[in-house]
Amino acid sequence: MAEFILTPAIGDNFIGRETLVQELVEELHNKKSHIGFCLYGRRRVGKTSILIKVRQLLEEDKKLVVAYLSLYDIADLSPTTFAEELMDAIVHAYQEKGLLPLKIRIKDLLKSPLSIASELLKSVKVEGVVAEHIKLILEFKKERGDDNNYSEYIRQAFNTGEVLAKSTSTKCIIILDEFPEVVKFKNGLQLVKMLRTQYELQRATAIMISGSIKRTLDIVALSEGSPFYKQLVPKHLLPFTEQETAEFIKSYIGKVGKKEVEELYDITSGLPFYLQFIGRSTKYAGGIRDIIDTFIAQEGDLFFREEFEKLSDKEKIIVAALANGTENLVGIAKNITEPATTVSRYLPNLIEEDIVEKKSRGTYALVDKLFAHWLKKRIVE
Ligand SMILES: Nc1ncnc2c1ncn2[C@@H]1O[C@H](COP(=O)(O)OP(=O)(O)OP(=O)(O)O)[C@@H](O)[C@H]1O
Ligand SMILES: [Mg+2]
Repeated sequence: MAEFILTPAIGDNFIGRETLVQELVEELHNKKSHIGFCLYGRRRVGKTSILIKVRQLLEEDKKLVVAYLSLYDIADLSPTTFAEELMDAIVHAYQEKGLLPLKIRIKDLLKSPLSIASELLKSVKVEGVVAEHIKLILEFKKERGDDNNYSEYIRQAFNTGEVLAKSTSTKCIIILDEFPEVVKFKNGLQLVKMLRTQYELQRATAIMISGSIKRTLDIVALSEGSPFYKQLVPKHLLPFTEQETAEFIKSYIGKVGKKEVEELYDITSGLPFYLQFIGRSTKYAGGIRDIIDTFIAQEGDLFFREEFEKLSDKEKIIVAALANGTENLVGIAKNITEPATTVSRYLPNLIEEDIVEKKSRGTYALVDKLFAHWLKKRIVE
């Protein structure tokens, strides 16, 4: 039986999602297709788990090479570092697949002086376009600081997958997790535009980006006029269905009743992270109400308190009013004795953060029922 985990679900830990995974794999697997995806969904809904799953399935094919990069892992938020990390991830994927004789990591090559790097390249007999490409990048690197070179450097780095794919008759798939982080980079949006311009010219590469900050994904990919608009197919990842929730519980604890699943689905909305988190502290022993209480007492308190403390003072009272059951704007304003204009000023950010959702004109609700439940228990009462 699978063990509850809070990190991305792999192997036996991974439940459900069949249709989406199949769709992504089929399209990305097609060597003639250049279609990419933008996978978005609220925090902890299971995006990274899906990316890893898709990557594993694709890697079974010798002619597909998958490079994975999480933008969270890039410490220095400069476009050059991004380009270099990406290049390193791509080259590394080809090395792992045994398609590139070069043993040294591209990151290390970039750190060494040009003469040494060239010698290294010679000694491992990387030939033809790939060697030319890497040499070109090394030379750009040496002359970095010059603005003309800078964009050419980035452009060439973005093209690494295409060069490698063509010279090895493979398809290169580039997965960029936590893509919204890109806006934090210096000239972030310009960087996205460069990536997209390059992508448009490529034929042997497909990109899949993922993230949870809808506003940023709109700016880079989803809204009309954004760089990747119509270049990447949007895929909205929702929490588990009730059926997947049942499947999850069955796989993790063996058996479960219909009524328990219903109750659990109602309070967690099928968010995989909650199912794991609750399972880890309670092992799902007992009735659902008791399970939730135990979970909140054991781990939930700390977790939700932290989420709550991230909010500003005004946001806190609005959220508390919502947890208390007040749903319309006027009601919330009255409840917290603030003008309605104040409330409407704070709502967009809460919506953006996926904490509040608009139900209809003038009515709002908390997205997360478990958070609402905790708020009601600990803050409101
Ligand atoms: N298909 C799945 N089956 C079982 N558990 C899952 C599945 N997908 C996600 N989870 C669980 O949910 C939690 C969050 O998963 P994951 O990190 O993949 O989500 P995410 O959307 O990438 O989160 P974040 O927004 O923090 O990046 C983890 O505990 C993971 O094990
Ligand atoms: Mg993730």
